[in-house]
Amino acid sequence: MNKILEVKALEGGYTNVQILNGIDLYVNKGEFVTIIGPNGCGKSTFLKVLFGLATHHKGTVLYNNSDVSGWRTDRLVDQGISYVPQVDNVFPSLSVRENLQMGGIRLNSKKLKNSIERACNMFPDLQERMNDLAASLSGGERQMLAISRALISEPSFLLLDEPTAALSPKYQQEIIANIDELRMEGISVLLVEQNARLSLERSNRGYIFSSGKVIHTSSAKNILNDPNIGDYFLGLK
Ligand SMILES: Nc1ncnc2c1ncn2[C@@H]1O[C@H](COP(=O)(O)OP(=O)(O)OP(=O)(O)O)[C@@H](O)[C@H]1O
Ligand SMILES: [Mg+2]
Repeated sequence: MNKILEVKALEGGYTNVQILNGIDLYVNKGEFVTIIGPNGCGKSTFLKVLFGLATHHKGTVLYNNSDVSGWRTDRLVDQGISYVPQVDNVFPSLSVRENLQMGGIRLNSKKLKNSIERACNMFPDLQERMNDLAASLSGGERQMLAISRALISEPSFLLLDEPTAALSPKYQQEIIANIDELRMEGISVLLVEQNARLSLERSNRGYIFSSGKVIHTSSAKNILNDPNIGDYFLGLK
């Protein structure tokens, strides 16, 4: 199958610290892939290295078969990659509309208008809040705004870091369903998630990280049905 992302023996982290100790991972075009693992094991760092926000030390990152290892964020955005961070993913002092406009800073005004319209179709709640400050949104609405903003650049590959953290179960379900919809529209998705079961139920495949390494990978179905992994990582105990 055609891979949108292929990571080989990736090492990376921050200027003088290595957090990722040789990650091998791929995402096929049109796939929804979930990464799970304990706190501090390097999940966020991995997404940040992929998006040029943390340091690439060694190894290869192929995107659409081109080597983009160590590329800067703006170049990666131009290639169709977008990213929703785990924290601080909206500008609280800007309105919803201004937040969305920030996501399309590189688009011309007509394209930007269309993109904002598309985002509002996906999250109708946002439409009603366009002129409100992002600070006034609920946690769930903020995540919707953060995802919408990431979509404004019309990505073909979306990196999401714990989009359901601290949300009510209703919003958690809704956000994951929205992400699944994006996949059905043709966007490939790589998601880091604490709510492992919720996300794996919609995913094609999963990876389990520990101490900056992949310790297991399989189809999402296998992971969900594996009693050893399931009990520990899916919070069933
Ligand atoms: N800016 C930074 N500089 C140096 N070390 C950092 C930085 N950010 C994170 N780390 C360290 O990198 C390691 C991995 O952190 P990371 O945030 O990637 O883990 P995580 O798997 O996303 O955890 P969580 O599930 O809590 O979000 C941790 O030891 C953390 O302290
Ligand atoms: Mg994290």
